[in-house]
This record gives sequence, C-alpha cells and structure tokens, in this order.
Amino acid sequence: MNTQVAWMPRGEDAAPVSSYLSAEQALQAFRNGMRALAGAVTLVTTRLGDERFGLTATAVCSMSANPPRILACVNVQGRSYRAIAESRCMAINVLGTRHQGLAQRFASAEADPFGAGEWTRAATGAPLLADALVAFDCEVAEMFVTRTHAVVIGEIRHIACRDERDALLYMDGRFVSVAPLPAH
Ligand SMILES: Cc1cc2nc3c(=O)[nH]c(=O)nc-3n(C[C@H](O)[C@H](O)[C@H](O)COP(=O)(O)O)c2cc1C
Repeated sequence: MNTQVAWMPRGEDAAPVSSYLSAEQALQAFRNGMRALAGAVTLVTTRLGDERFGLTATAVCSMSANPPRILACVNVQGRSYRAIAESRCMAINVLGTRHQGLAQRFASAEADPFGAGEWTRAATGAPLLADALVAFDCEVAEMFVTRTHAVVIGEIRHIACRDERDALLYMDGRFVSVAPLPAH
C-alpha cells in the first residue's frame, strides 16, 4: 500500500510548516488526497435576463433540512459566479451516468453549454435539466467569498425528483458509476 504523510503549508502564501514538502509538493499532495474523495456530479445553473450560465460542480452538499438548504462552492474567476451573485438564484441539477457528456461540456469553455440536454425554466428562472436525477431550484440565501471560491447557500424552493439512482460520480480524475453493495 502506498501511504503518504504530508505536512501542508499554512495559509495561501506561507512557506511549508515543515521541510518535508515544498509548496509544489503540498499542492500535489492535496490533489492526490482529493482524488480519493468521490463526489456526485452536478450542474449548477443560473439565469441572468436571457442568458443562461452553468458549471459542472462536485463541491455541493446538503446543508440543513429546516430550513431546506444546499451548499455549493463556486470559483469566483468563472462566468457563473458573477451571474449567480447578480441573479440570486441557482439550480443544482444532479447528474446520472447518461449525462457524462453534459458534465464535460459544462466543465469546458464551451460557448453555449446549454446546446445539449433538454432544459426548462424553474420558478426562480434558473435552468433545470429535464431529466436530472433530482433538480433543486434555489434562491440564494447567503453567499460569501473566501479566497478563490464563493460558498453559495441556496434555499430550496422546489425539488423535481426522478425515481432513478444511477448517479454519476467523479473520483480519481474520472467519471465513475455507483455499484451498490450486497446487504450486510
Ligand atoms: C468533475 C468536475 C467537478 C468540478 N467541480 C467544481 C466545483 O465544485 N466548483 C467550481 O467552481 N468548479 C468546478 N469544476 C470546474 C468548472 O466546471 C469549470 O471551471 C467551468 O468551466 C466553470 O464555468 P464558469 O466559467 O461558467 O463558471 C469542476 C470540474 C469538473 C470536471
């Protein structure tokens, strides 16, 4: 088994705490570690006037049931961040294995990522993927920027859920599917 123990630098610009890792090695250790963190693949979408925006995101999780809230981390350099900040709405569309192409499309600099897939308009105005495993239509309750990313907290206004669980995951730098284990 290949086990690595890494001391990480503190803060963005700080020198490494120990002499074990250079900043470059620490970044590599971070990336390697994150490769083991499997994530459900979603499309976080919004609308500003007539224009739709969206990105592929795995940094999404359930936040609270009461109030019903969901959280997404969005890079502030991207186009979608600025649109979400202005529109104050977002939809989180959870993808199935059949949506791998869409996930790639929304992770690229594609001019019109919405050119594939069937899209409808949610009550908030955000684009909803018609055959998402589940789509959460949210108003932005709170958002704050912490260095490179914004933490966007969505208050869920509507949920469109299909009776399908063929989730698309991302792990170890690739798209994977879920294989249920036998009952224990
Ligand atoms: C599997 C995968 C997961 C990603 N997760 C996130 C994420 O959680 N947050 C984020 O800001 N970018 C994430 N990205 C990168 C964005 O999808 C990508 O930078 C996108 O082009 C940004 O679009 P935008 O310019 O409209 O914001 C991910 C990319 C991939 C392939």
